[in-house]
Amino acid sequence: MKYGYFDNKKNEYVIDRIDVPVSWTNYIGVKDMCGVFNHTAGGYLFYKSPEYHRITRFRPNGVPMDRPGHYVYVRDNETKDYWTLSWQPVGKSLDDAKYICRHGLSYIKYQCEYKGIKGEQKLFIPLDDAVEVWDVTLKNESGKKRSLSVFSYVEFSFHHITTDNQNFQMSLYSSGSSYKDGIIEIDLFYEPDGFQYFTSNETDDGNAAFDCLRDSFIGQYRTESNPLAVESGQCSGSFELGGNHCGALRRTIELNPGEEKRLVFLLGEGNREAGKKAREKYCSNNFSKTDAAFTELADFWKEKLSKLQIETPHEGMNAMINTWTLYQAEINVIFSRFASFIEVGGRTGLGYRDTSQDAMMVPHSNPEKSRARLVELLKGLTAAGYGLHLFSPEWFEKQTKPAFKSPTVVPMPSKSERIHGIEDVCADDALWLIPAIAEYIRETGDFNFAEEKYPYADTFDSDGAEESVFDHMKRILDFSAREVGPHGICKGLRADWNDCLNLGGGESAMVSFLHHWALVHFCALGRKLGKDVSEYEKMAAIVKASCEKELWNGSWYTRGFTSAGRAIGSPDCKEGRVFMESNTWAVLSGAVSKERGIAAMDAVDKFLYTPFGLKLCDPAFSQPDDDVGFVTRVYKGLKENAAIFSHPNPWAWAAEAMLGRGDRAIKFYDALCPYNQNDLIEVRKAEPYMYCQFITGPDHSAFGRANHPFMTGSAGWAYFAATRFILGIRPDFDCLVIDPCIPASWPSFKVRRVWRDAVYNITVENPNGVSKGVKECKLNGKPVVCKDPAASAAAVTAAGAAVAAAGAAAEVPEQARGSENEVRVIMG
Ligand code: NOJ
Repeated sequence: MKYGYFDNKKNEYVIDRIDVPVSWTNYIGVKDMCGVFNHTAGGYLFYKSPEYHRITRFRPNGVPMDRPGHYVYVRDNETKDYWTLSWQPVGKSLDDAKYICRHGLSYIKYQCEYKGIKGEQKLFIPLDDAVEVWDVTLKNESGKKRSLSVFSYVEFSFHHITTDNQNFQMSLYSSGSSYKDGIIEIDLFYEPDGFQYFTSNETDDGNAAFDCLRDSFIGQYRTESNPLAVESGQCSGSFELGGNHCGALRRTIELNPGEEKRLVFLLGEGNREAGKKAREKYCSNNFSKTDAAFTELADFWKEKLSKLQIETPHEGMNAMINTWTLYQAEINVIFSRFASFIEVGGRTGLGYRDTSQDAMMVPHSNPEKSRARLVELLKGLTAAGYGLHLFSPEWFEKQTKPAFKSPTVVPMPSKSERIHGIEDVCADDALWLIPAIAEYIRETGDFNFAEEKYPYADTFDSDGAEESVFDHMKRILDFSAREVGPHGICKGLRADWNDCLNLGGGESAMVSFLHHWALVHFCALGRKLGKDVSEYEKMAAIVKASCEKELWNGSWYTRGFTSAGRAIGSPDCKEGRVFMESNTWAVLSGAVSKERGIAAMDAVDKFLYTPFGLKLCDPAFSQPDDDVGFVTRVYKGLKENAAIFSHPNPWAWAAEAMLGRGDRAIKFYDALCPYNQNDLIEVRKAEPYMYCQFITGPDHSAFGRANHPFMTGSAGWAYFAATRFILGIRPDFDCLVIDPCIPASWPSFKVRRVWRDAVYNITVENPNGVSKGVKECKLNGKPVVCKDPAASAAAVTAAGAAVAAAGAAAEVPEQARGSENEVRVIMG
């Protein structure tokens, strides 16, 4: 069953059957103001922090689903019939009304046709203004004159989510609303400069034109589905100091047959004066600035997408990589995970491991933000070499203003609260930062970054020494080298990447493999910078030896050891016998032989493959076992307990590509690919344009259901693995490596890649039907060096490949900035 389709020309996903089974969401805003909305305009808006500066209210996990939202009601003044442009909350019968939702890149269009009136509500946020624009058009296609009243509606939130949800004897009496000059102003009295405005290009006169009080607009014993104001055709001119506030403006319009009218509503940050300025800007000159702002937003995304465009025989991969997977990865970097319908803003700040991985995925399309995130993470590293698991970058910025005491001001915890001890360390967190830094430098050529100096989290406010980025990296590696258990394998500490596999603080194969991967990246960077990295090369050799000695169990790679020394993820285990993390990372890390890598990945295929992707482990745990961890207290087939956890799936694609098995890599890619499930929504339920955190596994009755869209590192990894390993285009420090691993049946593919301001139009031909190996490469007609990746520095760094690959790769030297280059590659 399908509910929509990919409009690749417009980069939109079009929902043409609006009654989708769960919310299908999208994000608007790319800087300070952001909003999360679903297919029926349910959702919320915030400024900078979804926890401390929520602008509009949201009742998550509620009934009915996903309310309230940012709605436009239309009322026919003759028949008194009314509807919403976004289907819900009025929810007209779909036999009478036609609804479409177009999710675009940082905008959403809600389109509706009902009783001869064609309407559209477009939501977006201009790049450089903290204002949400609702661009509304209504066209009369009924053949007779119509009199309509249009009502906007939003419900305001008290900025701080906790204040908004509890202790109403405080919150209800410290913010007020007023209406003047066509502008609603919300004053959060307890905050300095705590104002929001809501206005539009034109409203009616008098009290019928507005409501600032939610309960007056909605009316008693009613909901957003049948507001009193809309039903009666009149607002009541309500406002008050204290109470629950809304932004409702009414405009009555007459439309002749064929006539179209445009209305623009503005919901912004700031007071009435700011609202006046915004109205002047966006509503004058026939809305030319509104149009220009929308074009700028489109150009912003066009520019990002242009950095890498592919044309392969795989339609789904083309659509996902060219648009949706990059978009999802970027949104994760911008929003940093804590604003969605699942994480509704109760947490704030940066998760160390998630942010490091997110930053690694988009240095080509968002180098500034990647760099900014890396710097925030460097400052969130302790001098002991571990990262703060969850921290706010503001903690490590010099305070310029004296702190104002208010629930909505992001608090500054005491130093001891900010800097957690070893008991709260997740052993993998900071290791991710090293490859992220290396990848940023490979992409940008910003070698000086390695020498920049930053403080550590615990030396920041005590005049402690600043150290170079390179030294920060050393501290991370030294920490992992110190924190090993009796097998010489890294301790898992509170947890590793798998939040739920705590191993009672035992040892984690994943962390040791990650340690090796980080060492490979670090040594390659160090060598490139002319540094002596021999100490770390030795460290890598020790890690490799321990991994091969202690983790190879004869069939695949063991996942770890509990604190009591029990092996997990090994053939003797009844439950949790095979794990994805240890086997994929064995290969990715470059620490193991090709032969064992193949056996490990064969076990992944044999035990973990399902038609919806690879399970995280098998068999699922059925008995609570605190030595293993919280994973044993999650139902079978859900989350980390043998669900198809999306994030590690691309690790398997990359591992297979490193082993030269292109058909297997695509088999795994296809199983998880949301695009492939567009017509299977009765099973998938969630958006087919987004990766979800996990797909329910076969041990559960809801096998195949996708859960928690958008905010997951799966997209970044999917992008990274597909582009750098399957298509095999990956920058190194001074060349662009071309090392594809594709299905043998692909005759060719093309990639347009912008790297360090030069364009590379790459055509890869596969006349002999191989999966891996470059026979010949020409750059602008001249031959290019092709080497066995195992022997080439490029592959040892980017692919971490001690695993000998099944063929040579091309190394295209960096070309002049501004140049456009033709690269022709023949596989064979
Ligand atoms: C979601 C968390 O955000 C991420 O940090 C973790 O790695 C995965 N769950 C797996 O447990």
